Amino acid sequence: MTPKNQIAIFASGNGSNFEAIAHACAENRLNAKVALLVCDNPDAFVVQRAKKFDIPVFEIQPKNYTTKADYETEIMQILKKYNIDLICLAGYMRLVSDVLLNEYEGKIINIHPSLLPAFKGLNAIQQAFEYGVKLTGVTTHFVDKTMDGGKIIEQVAVSAENCTLEELETRIHAVEHELYVNTIHKLQTHYQL
Ligand code: GRF
Repeated sequence: MTPKNQIAIFASGNGSNFEAIAHACAENRLNAKVALLVCDNPDAFVVQRAKKFDIPVFEIQPKNYTTKADYETEIMQILKKYNIDLICLAGYMRLVSDVLLNEYEGKIINIHPSLLPAFKGLNAIQQAFEYGVKLTGVTTHFVDKTMDGGKIIEQVAVSAENCTLEELETRIHAVEHELYVNTIHKLQTHYQL
C-alpha cells in the first residue's frame, strides 16, 4: 500500500469541510492523514474541531508580516516540517500567491459553493439564490493566483428550486462534504501527489 498522503487544510472559519475530510481519514475512507490545520483566525471554530481530532494547528496572523511572501514563507516552513503533499483550502479567506503556488504546483485545491465560473467570491450560495437560478452546485478546483480560478476538477449540481436560502445552504454543504473527500480520492488515484 502506498504511504498515506499528508494533507494540510487551510481554513479561516467554521470548518465543516475540515471535519468531513478529517472524518474520512480517521475512518480510512481516504488513505491520507490530516497532518496540519493552518488557520489565520484564532477565533475560528475550526480550531476547536482540530483539537477534537488531535490535529496540530498552526495559527498565523498575516498582520505580523510585512509582505505576503514573508507570510507564505513562514507557512511553507511548517508545511515542509510536516511533509505535506496536498493542501486543501476549505473556507480560507485569502488568495494564495507565488511562494506557495510555485512550491506546491498542482497540489493546492479549493472547494467553492457554486458551479464555477458562476458566482465567484463571498456568499456564493446567496448570490445564486438571489439571482434566481434553478440549478447551482459545488466545484472543486486547482488553485491559481485568482479568486476561485484554476482548472476545475469536479462539479456536482444542486437544485435551487422550491427552497429557502437556508435550505439551499444545507443542500450545498451536504454535497460539499462528500465531494471534497471524493476529489481527494480522485487526485490520489489519477494524479501523482
Ligand atoms: C464552504 O462553503 C466552501 O465551499 C467555501 O467556504 C465554505 C467553508 O465552510 N470555500 P466550512 O468552514 O468548511 O464549514
